[in-house]
Amino acid sequence: MSETQSTSVMDQIVSLCKRRGFIYPASEIYGGIRGFWDYGPLGILLKNNIRDWWWRNMVECPPLGPDGHPVDIVGLDSAIIQNPKTWEASGHVAGFNDPMVDCKATQGRYRADHVKVLIPKDGVGSSFAFVDDKEAAEKKIKRDAHRNPVDYQEVVLTSLPAEAYEKIVGPDAKVAGTLTQPRPFSLMLDTYPGPIRDEANKAYLRPETAQGIFLNFKNIIDTTRVKVPFGVAQIGKSFRNEVTPRNYIFRSREFEQMEMEFFCAPDEALKWYQFWRSERMRWWESLGVAASHLRFRDHAAEELSHYSKATVDIEYLYPFTAPDFGELEGIAHRGDFDLTQHSKHSGQKLDYFDQELQLALKEKGASAEEIKAKSRYMPNVIEPASGLTRAVLVLLCEAYTPDETRPSKVFLKFKPQFAPVKLGIFPLVNKDGMPETAEKLYLDLRGKYTCEYDPKQTIGKRYARMDEIGTPYCITVDGQTAQDQTVTVRDRDTQGQVRVGLDKLQGYLAAGLGK
Ligand code: GAP
Repeated sequence: MSETQSTSVMDQIVSLCKRRGFIYPASEIYGGIRGFWDYGPLGILLKNNIRDWWWRNMVECPPLGPDGHPVDIVGLDSAIIQNPKTWEASGHVAGFNDPMVDCKATQGRYRADHVKVLIPKDGVGSSFAFVDDKEAAEKKIKRDAHRNPVDYQEVVLTSLPAEAYEKIVGPDAKVAGTLTQPRPFSLMLDTYPGPIRDEANKAYLRPETAQGIFLNFKNIIDTTRVKVPFGVAQIGKSFRNEVTPRNYIFRSREFEQMEMEFFCAPDEALKWYQFWRSERMRWWESLGVAASHLRFRDHAAEELSHYSKATVDIEYLYPFTAPDFGELEGIAHRGDFDLTQHSKHSGQKLDYFDQELQLALKEKGASAEEIKAKSRYMPNVIEPASGLTRAVLVLLCEAYTPDETRPSKVFLKFKPQFAPVKLGIFPLVNKDGMPETAEKLYLDLRGKYTCEYDPKQTIGKRYARMDEIGTPYCITVDGQTAQDQTVTVRDRDTQGQVRVGLDKLQGYLAAGLGK
């Protein structure tokens, strides 16, 4: 797919989502607010379907571990605002920032590691910086020096020495030398709980749900029956003051995460890291995402977060990254970093005494020193961390299917389980007893499936709307229904219609919708 084609696919998805009530810009009547989005009536249904499936597969029915028994995972819903010491201990106050450059001429602010620069290969003349639009930078080159663009090479701004900045024309600037040196910019949004607005009362909106889990590690050990290895799962809002929120809901300032911290013995951490890598990939495929649209990307050593011993991303082929892939979920081996840090900063003991390991070592005939050294430890953590709102984007991109043969020209091919509405129920015309029969059917089915009853407009328009919102089946009561107790059932993907007896309808739907 070319860049212009892929841009337009994304524009079409954004427009469909607005038109049909999936996602709206937040505060739209006031002109919006950058990096914030509202999930409309269909968006919240889709989001909840994904959320429920994650929770089901993590907490209620977790996968079988390498020993063939289900792994142990419990749930949590911690506060968004915690004691600010949390973020000092976690490293976010000191380390959670991006290097930023400001342009003194345009007041533009850019992430330094996202800015690319075209520099003359022979080192003579100006350099031209750009963020997305390389073509515009090349045009500036031609205007400026009548130079052929092939004489230039592309580098990342952060790889250039300080003195080179004097020769760089900023992304939207006209003259060279207006970019500042990179400076750290905190990604945490702050707030002041209570009446006094001073530094001592500053707190933060959490930038990740994970820390709430570490803060409750001791509570969970002390109040439940879990034993290492076990996981704690949490879904909730996180906030980051992203400098350049972009690509629709891909990178926003308020978003939802689905994170699980899996606590295990240090010796077993690598085994669990491998386990969660493959489990998580399997889970994304269970949403109906094509395997060819997903891939693993291992982080290089210099890219690892401050806490991580190894991290792999699960990436998706987004229309705006194609042919490249973009991040969807990170699976990190966090070692014992978080518990150790919180233990140091809070003065609380957060290590774990592993009675089962002690017994196993005794049985194996291990020495007293080895037993002592190994059976009390700071658990290691394997963390699969994904974005719920990013998952919504993936399912929208994956489902989006242009089709010139149908009136809507496009349909959303959701796996039925995730479709916001499962059934459209219509009377063919709004008379002759059809609405009464259709409404009765709606009342019978709505307890089991999310259904929409719609008696208005032509049947073609109703089918088109259901195609655009991805409804797997439409049931129509027509003139024949009163005679032989059958209805038509239209399949979203094939547009084919079959007549099904009312007495067989529940079984027919259960087979197609998986319930
Ligand atoms: N606790 C680890 C952690 O937060 P992360 O890679 O920074 O790791 C995990 O975030 C996931 O959260 C990402 O893979 C992505 O899906 C989602 N995410 C992160 N920042 C986001 C943003 N600004 N907008 C939407 N989703 C975001």
